[in-house]
Amino acid sequence: MPEPVVVACGRSPIGRAFKGSLTGWRPDDLAAFVVEEVLNRVPALDRGSIDDLICGCGLPGGEQGFNLGRIVSILTRLNCPGTTVTRYCASSLQSTRMAAHAIRAGEGDAFLSVGVESTTRYLNGTSDILSCRNPRLEPGNPDGYPDIYIQMGDTAEIVAERERVSREEMDRFGLRSQERAVAAQDAGFFEREIVPVPLQDGRVMSADDGPRRNTSLEKLAALEPAFREGGSVTAGNSCPLNDGAAAVVVMSDTRARALGIQPLARIVSTGLSALEPERMGLGPIEASQQALTRAGMTIGDIDLVEINEAFAAQVIPSARGLGIDPSDDRLNPHGGSIALGHPFGMTGARILCTLLNGLQTTGGQVGLETMCVGGGMGMAMILERLV
Ligand SMILES: CC(C)(COP(=O)(O)OP(=O)(O)OC[C@H]1O[C@@H](n2cnc3c(N)ncnc32)[C@H](O)[C@@H]1OP(=O)(O)O)[C@@H](O)C(=O)NCCC(=O)NCCS
Repeated sequence: MPEPVVVACGRSPIGRAFKGSLTGWRPDDLAAFVVEEVLNRVPALDRGSIDDLICGCGLPGGEQGFNLGRIVSILTRLNCPGTTVTRYCASSLQSTRMAAHAIRAGEGDAFLSVGVESTTRYLNGTSDILSCRNPRLEPGNPDGYPDIYIQMGDTAEIVAERERVSREEMDRFGLRSQERAVAAQDAGFFEREIVPVPLQDGRVMSADDGPRRNTSLEKLAALEPAFREGGSVTAGNSCPLNDGAAAVVVMSDTRARALGIQPLARIVSTGLSALEPERMGLGPIEASQQALTRAGMTIGDIDLVEINEAFAAQVIPSARGLGIDPSDDRLNPHGGSIALGHPFGMTGARILCTLLNGLQTTGGQVGLETMCVGGGMGMAMILERLV
C-alpha cells in the first residue's frame, strides 16, 4: 500500500482581518499565489500530474465561493480537478486527510491540499447566512436538537465554566502564546514556513501581523469579556479574526521516490470526533486518542503537540485531557493562533507547516496536530518527520 507523504508546504503570513496587511487580497488570488510558490519548491513534480486540488475553506461563499478549489486550479493554470471542503476550522486538515486517504486507496499519487480564509472579504458575502438557518434547529427547539448554531465564544465560556478554567489561567496561556510567537518570530523560525506576499502598496509582507510585543498579564486582566457579561473569555485569550492561505503537496511515497523527491514527513494517522456543539472546544481529546490508537502510539511517543488555540478556555482542558501539562514545552512551543491568528480554512495547513518546521528545528520525530471544530467536532493528524 502506498504511504502518503508531505513533499512541500508553505503559507502566507497571517493578516489581521479588516485592519491588517492582507485586506487587499482576494482569497482565491491569495490561495493561487501560495500554491504557485509551494509548487516551486518541488520542481521535479510535473504540474500536469496533479490528481486533484482539495481546498479547505471555512465559509466557502462570496469571494470564496464558486468551488474555490477549481477556481484556484484555473488561476494557477494547473487545470487539474478542484474541490472545496468545509469542516470549519479544520477544513485544511480535512483536505490533507482526503489526499492521504486517496493515496492509501491507490487512487492518485499527487495532491494539493490548500487552506484559505479571508474574514475581511466576508463583507462581500459568505456561505453562512443567518436567515437561512433551519428554524427546527434554533435554540430551545421542541425536538431537543442541540444548538448547532451556537457561537464559538459562547462555547468557550461554557467550557471554561464546566472545566473550571479560571480567567487568570486563560490570560497566562494567552500571554505564553504571545511571548512564544514573538520569540519564534525574532529567531527567524517562521521565515522557514512563510511565503512572502507582495502588497498593493509595493511592500512585501513576510511576517504575521499578530504577535503582540507589548502585552502583559496586567493588560490582559484589564480586557472586558468579549462574549458574555460577567464572562472570562476576552480578545486577549481568544484567537482573533484573520486572513491567510497555505498549501501542502501530498504525494505517494512510491511516486516521490521515483521522481527523486525527498519527502518531508509521512502522514501516519488521523482521527475525527463528534461531541455536543457547546463542548466543541474539547474535540481534540477524542480525535487525538483515535489518531494515537491508529498509529499504535501513546501521547508519550509524541515529540511536539500543536493544539489549535481557538480559545485558551479549550486548549487548557484539551491538553490536560490528553495528559499534557498546558505549560509543557512540547505544546505549541512557537505560540499558536491566539498570537498568530486563525484564518479558519487556512489553519489546518498552517499548523502542519509550523509542526514540521518545529520538528525540524527541535530534532523531534513525531508530531500531533489537533483542532476543535465548530458544531461540535475534533480532528487530529500524526506526522512523522523524514528529513
Ligand atoms: C474576541 C473577539 C470578539 C475580539 O474582537 P476585537 O475586539 O475586534 O479584537 P481585537 O483583536 O481587534 O482586539 C481589540 C483590542 O483589545 C486589545 N487587545 C487584544 N488582545 C490584546 C492583548 N493580548 N494584549 C493587550 N491588549 C489586547 C487591544 O486594544 C485591541 O485593539 P488593537 O488591536 O487595535 O490594539 C474576536 O477576535 C473574535 O471573535 N475571536 C474569536 C474568533 C472565533 O470564534 N474563531 C473560531 C474559533 S473556533
